[in-house]
Amino acid sequence: MSRHAITLIPGDGIGPEVTDATVRILEAAGQRTGTEFAWEPYEAGADAFAKTGEYIPKALYESVGRTGVALKGPVTTPIGEGFKSINVTLRKQFDLFANVRPIRNLPGLATKYPDVDLVIVRENTEGLYVGLEQEVVPGVCTSLKVITEKGSTRVAKFAFAYAQKHGRKKVHAIHKANIMKLTDGLFLRCARTVAAGYPEIAYAEHIVDNTCMQLVTNPYQYDVMVMENLYGDILSDLCAGFVGGLGLVPGANLGEHAAIFEAVHGSAPDIAGQDKANPTALLQSAVLMLEHLQEAELAGRVEAALERVYAEGRVLTRDVGGQAGTRAFRDAVIAALA
Ligand code: NAI
Repeated sequence: MSRHAITLIPGDGIGPEVTDATVRILEAAGQRTGTEFAWEPYEAGADAFAKTGEYIPKALYESVGRTGVALKGPVTTPIGEGFKSINVTLRKQFDLFANVRPIRNLPGLATKYPDVDLVIVRENTEGLYVGLEQEVVPGVCTSLKVITEKGSTRVAKFAFAYAQKHGRKKVHAIHKANIMKLTDGLFLRCARTVAAGYPEIAYAEHIVDNTCMQLVTNPYQYDVMVMENLYGDILSDLCAGFVGGLGLVPGANLGEHAAIFEAVHGSAPDIAGQDKANPTALLQSAVLMLEHLQEAELAGRVEAALERVYAEGRVLTRDVGGQAGTRAFRDAVIAALA
């Protein structure tokens, strides 16, 4: 019998729907292996502000500080105005410097790109996401891109250690150091220094614009890709397209003392509250969470049930060509646990 305290942030938009589905699947799977979850649920973002006057309630910070692990749905960020991204704030607060996003096809789900298997490692705390913007004079705005030796070195070390641990053969550093010679130049120098300590893992560098073309013509040349924040954000969505879209791709935000597991996708306001969202991306994020919690058997069970539902192809959500709603899909995965 094991028991895990986990901070739960359902988020908004489709967040509560995909979070509810994921929690119920984990509960059902846990009953089979004797694993219990003590969920600590907290709102964040506009909903939390309306109730508590805080976008991220102090109690949420304390909960993550205590549990060290959170499962998080997407939170809407106002565009071009309003409060700072909750997601970026949490990543910075807990120094979750590595954002790991495995991109892999699911069985039975036909896409234009079969058998893709690559991992994006996105630096999660620096770059243009530090949010240091100013209006210099009316009509002129600037945004500071911050790249540090410490931040670049630790994410590069993470990428190589991840490659080594998971039997991966190659790490590509993605950059734009031909134009941003100081910032991306520093990122590359750090990656090269770390690469020298891993002679058994091949190392290569691609410029980010060329990388987009290389990815859509031949994604199979990539294995592990490490990059700064903005490139990682953009390439994650591009790569999600290889395997069936944003409804599928999971993510793990990892730091020394805490980890927050969330999908790549956002709050999808266009389909929120309609029982249309695909919970697969958050469920796969939860599988990464179970692995992080050393619950390999349980992670394997959930993954196998999910793969069975996709291999059968009878109960799938609309984004991947099916007709089922979020709840029907959830129930199919629970049934497949048997
Ligand atoms: P989005 O990822 O929410 O949606 C893009 C498209 O993908 C939409 O057509 C949506 O319906 C579809 N989609 C996304 N997830 C899906 C799922 N699970 N099942 C089926 N279809 C799905 O991106 P968008 O519209 O650019 O952003 C909406 C909001 O989400 C913004 O406020 C943004 O800031 C926020 N956001 C939050 C993130 C987070 O909390 N980690 C990450 C990305 C965006």
